[in-house]
Formats: sequence, structure tokens, C-alpha cells
Amino acid sequence: MMRTHYCGSVTEALNEQTITVCGWVHRRRDHGGVIFLDMRDRDGLLQVVIDPDTPEAFATADSARSEYVLKITGRVRNRYAGTENKNMTSGNVELLAKEIEIIAKSETPPFPLNDDFTNVSEELRLKYRFLDIRRPEMLDRLRFRSKVTTLIRNYLDENGFLDVETPILTRATPEGARDYLVPSRVSNGEFYALPQSPQLFKQLLMVGGIDRYYQIAKCFRDEDLRADRQPEFTQIDIETSFLDDNDIMDLMEGMTVKLFDELMGIKFDKFERMPYSVAMRDYASDKPDLRIPLKLVDVADLMQDVEFKVFAGPAKDPKGRIVALRVPNAGSLPRSQIDEYTKFVGIYGAKGLAYIKVNELEKGIEGLQSPIVKFIEPIVLELLQRVGAENGDIVFFGADKAKIVNDAMGALRVKIGHDLNLLTKEWAPLWVVDFPMFEETDDGKWTSVHHPFTKPKGTVDEMKNSPETALSIAYDMVLNGTEIGGGSLRINTLEMQKAVFEALGISEEEAEEKFSFLLNALKYGAPPHGGLAFGLDRLIMLMTGASSIRDVIAFPKTKTAECPLTEAPAEVDSKQLRELGIRVREKEKKVE
Ligand code: AMO
Ligand code: AMP
Repeated sequence: MMRTHYCGSVTEALNEQTITVCGWVHRRRDHGGVIFLDMRDRDGLLQVVIDPDTPEAFATADSARSEYVLKITGRVRNRYAGTENKNMTSGNVELLAKEIEIIAKSETPPFPLNDDFTNVSEELRLKYRFLDIRRPEMLDRLRFRSKVTTLIRNYLDENGFLDVETPILTRATPEGARDYLVPSRVSNGEFYALPQSPQLFKQLLMVGGIDRYYQIAKCFRDEDLRADRQPEFTQIDIETSFLDDNDIMDLMEGMTVKLFDELMGIKFDKFERMPYSVAMRDYASDKPDLRIPLKLVDVADLMQDVEFKVFAGPAKDPKGRIVALRVPNAGSLPRSQIDEYTKFVGIYGAKGLAYIKVNELEKGIEGLQSPIVKFIEPIVLELLQRVGAENGDIVFFGADKAKIVNDAMGALRVKIGHDLNLLTKEWAPLWVVDFPMFEETDDGKWTSVHHPFTKPKGTVDEMKNSPETALSIAYDMVLNGTEIGGGSLRINTLEMQKAVFEALGISEEEAEEKFSFLLNALKYGAPPHGGLAFGLDRLIMLMTGASSIRDVIAFPKTKTAECPLTEAPAEVDSKQLRELGIRVREKEKKVE
């Protein structure tokens, strides 16, 4: 072995010992006759001192530059009093070099990796990801990620789960995104789809009697990317047989509790299980951020007969919603801030943001300040009583189609919570349960809220008779307003699976053509089964406090689904295309 110790692990315990370290030059300082090298490796930094008494080592150190790889042998000694560095594990000691060997030289890196690293564009970091990863911040996140997967593997192993791999070259699994396709050379004109999740294979594993399965699985979804989405991401994918939804939630909650406790020292109480209907009613979101104590209040019933059209319209519309958001003690918000919030809800399609500032409730209408009070006078006091308004509060209102109100006011609630520092705790995990089976799309069709294999509550007939009110046995784990995992019990009878396809408008032929293998498996003794998948990247992002999902992935894609490092995706040569039976249309070759 070339080295005896990691730089970052050298402490007083090694005082006076001769050791060898290998690493990168983090910083080099010349102090009139003495050279200091801060050496860096995976574990941290070590200060190395080279004095002119060792002329050969001195000359080598003199020629070393940032990011050279050096092998250094020397004697550990305590630093002089007053020169310790509390920020380094090795900060009480230094290495007095005897021998230095240059193992690899480095060109000047395109950005500094030491304390001078500031304002480096993400594009450049990703192009030189192999350098970016050397930074302690990145190393720490990847190390943490590895700890998380190790703990999860151990937990699942202890609970009887088998790690089984499922194919990457496969048929489409509908999870609501576009597929990535891979053309077949052997069967020209035919395509594999990369899995959006291992959903159907894990169900087949249950039919196969595996009983408890897990996989740290790559999933591929061609969808519009955001800060918490990647085209290729990792799931902790789980499936079980003969357990009910509560058993599954308990198991998964146990794993999450253990993760936070053992890796971060954070103790969670038992997770609240909140019905979807309550989450939408109180927080206008199916992933409520419960760190923020504000709640929405429905007020449409009071607005039926007001002269204010903005409110009366949605009040009478069965698809409309009107909510009030009371923000205590925020009556002094300046006009400019209210204008900014009005613009903010506009992003979600809201046409305005009505408000009432409650100055002196005792004075009745006179004590209110608002552009809308005059239009809703007859009911305004009842309204304020309903929301529990007190002097010094501001109450905001959203009125429109329910979808717009939910998106806009749900987001406003979270934004105000952060802006006004209203967070009451650091971590707020919960389960959201009792989701609807189906939701209506903009073009009036029905889609699955989870996926078409999710089991509804109740019988086949009940589901068929009122698909719009049918609930599913599905559950999402939500942490701080982010959905970190979701799953359900699955349909395990042919009759129910066919009925759900029918409700979704999937014809028998289409179902047969796309999912015959699943329908077939349901004929051969399919056990009751269910599971869930965690978004590993999102979970790590939350746990490490990273601001982007890309910061917890070694080699992520950009927002345009490109890899600046390898320059993927890339054109391929015409021979390859010919073998695949593919001709690229001239016009569409490059989407600019
Ligand atoms: P779902 O589609 O909800 O369920 O995905 C499970 C979890 O994966 C994460 N996730 C993502 N993370 C990063 N980038 C993405 N593009 C992305 N899409 C999803 C989320 C989400 O909670 N087969 C079902 C699970 C099941 O029913 O067992 C499924 O894939 O954190
Ligand atoms: P207007 O009559 O359009 O000038 O609006 C009067 C007040 O109602 C203003 O404060 C608007 O911001 C607000 N407003 C307009 N449309 C809506 C809406 N859909 N929901 C909530 N408030 C609205």
C-alpha cells in the first residue's frame, strides 16, 4: 500500500510517528524559507511543513502546484501553541516532511477547489465533475448517500427483504411520464422502453413468491425537469406480500425513523396519517409542509349572494373554490409586498389576490382596510369570525377554479411561511392517505392519481358505479412539503384490474397488447401485495440540505437533460443508424 493514513484522519494520537499520506495539493504557501502544503484526500486536510533542512523534499514541494498528486512521508508533530486550526480534524498536528514524491501533475484547474471556490457556474462544475467531486462539500454528500443506502440495505435485510434486479431494457411501465426508448437492432422498427419504475416486475416477483423484495433501482422519465427532478434517478423500490397498508407504512416509517436517528441524531414522533381530503382542505396540497402553522379556510358558502363577481362566480361553480389564508400579526405588510404576492400567485394562474387588513375589529367595517370590503359588507364580519381574525392580522383570499386556487394559495402559504419565518420545527414528516383513485385531466379524461395497478377501496361494483369518488389504498410519505416516497396496495385479481383499465378508458385490446403479461400473471395465484418507492435523491437532498437534486448525484444531467461531461446525448454515426433501421429526419435533427 502506498499510504499508511488518510490525511484527514491524522490526529495527536500519531504524534512523533512516521507516516505516509497520499493526496492532492489543496493550497501551497511559501513562508520565507518554509513551505506549507495543505494536502487533501477523501477524509480531509493535513498541513505539511517542508523546511530547507530536507533540500530534496523542499525542491519538490517548491515545484508542486495546486491539485498535484503527492506522496509524502514524514513525522507527525504537534502544532505550536496558537497555530492550531479547530476547523480541521487534523488541526492540532502537522506533518514534517522527509520525502515527497510527485505522483501526478495537474494543469491549473478551471476553478479553484479550495476556499477560493465561489461563484463557479454549475455548467463548468458538471463539465469538470471529476474535480468538483474533490471538494469536501461534494465528497461529504456522496459519503452520506452511501451511508444511507448501507443503512437501508441492512434494515431491509434484517426484515427479510431480498434484493432482486429487474431489467432496464423492457416495455413501458406507465408512471405518467414520457418513456426513453431504445431501438432494437435485431427487430428493426421495434423499441425497448427504459423503466419509469420497476413497478410491474416487482408485482410479478410477488406472484413469483419472493414475498419481500427491494432494489436500489434506476428509473428513467422523460419529463420537464425541475430542481427536484432528474431524467434518470434512483428509487428505493419495495414490494411485499400478505401485508396490509398499515403494516407497510409501519415498516417504511420504521426505516425512515432509523435513518434520521442513526445518521443525523434526529428523533421523529409517530407520523401523522392525514387523509388526502384534509390535506387539500387545510393546505391545498397533497404534500403539505407542516412546518408552517398556517391553514386555509373555505369560505365559498358565505359568498353565494355577494355582489362581488370575483367571489360570487367561483362560489356558485361546482368546480370553484374560495379560500381565506389568515396570517397572524402581518397586518403591517407593506403594499409592495402584497403586490409581490399578487404577482407570485399569478404564476399559478390566479387573477388577483384580495386581502383584508384587520386594524380594529371593535370598530366593525371601519376598522378594516381592504379593496374588497365594500363589495362583501353583509358577510364580512361573519367571514372574519370564521377565519379567527384578530387585530393586527392580514387575511388573503383566492377565488377561482379549485385547481388554480389550490396551486396558488397552497404555494402562497408556503412562501409566506418562509418569508415571515413562521416555521415551528425543522422536520415535519407525515403520511398522506386515502387518495382518490382517479382524477380528471384537462381534456376531460380520467387518469390514475397513482398508477393503474393501485387497488381501490371497496368492491369492483362500487368502483365502477362511482369512479369519481372512489378512493385508493395508496399512501405518500411527505417530508417538509416534498413527496419522498409513495406506494399502494395493488390489484391482485383479473376482474378488478380489467375494471380499472376500463374506467381509465383503456380498451381490452390495448390492455392485452400492453399488459398481457400482467393480466396473465393475475390468473395464476397472485397473492395480495403492495409496496412503495422512495425517491432516494430527493431524500438525500433533504437530509443534506442541498439546494438542488444535482448536488447529491455524482454525475447528474442539466435542466435540459444533458451531461456536460460526456456531452450526452450525442449524434451517432450513420452505420449504427442503418443497423437500427433508423433515418433521422433532416429538419428535426437538432432541437434548438
Ligand atoms: P412514484 O412515481 O410516486 O411511484 O415515484 C416514487 C418516488 O420517486 C421520486 N421521483 C423522482 N425523483 C427524482 N426525479 C424524478 N423525475 C422523480 N420522479 C419520482 C419521488 C417519488 O415519491 N412505482 C411507484 C411506486 C409504488 O407504487 O411502489 C412509483 O414509481 O420521491
Ligand atoms: P378587481 O375588482 O379585479 O380590481 O379586484 C379587486 C381585488 O380582488 C384586488 O385586490 C384583486 O387582487 C382581487 N382579486 C381579483 N381576482 C381575484 C381572484 N380570482 N381571487 C382572489 N382575489 C382576486
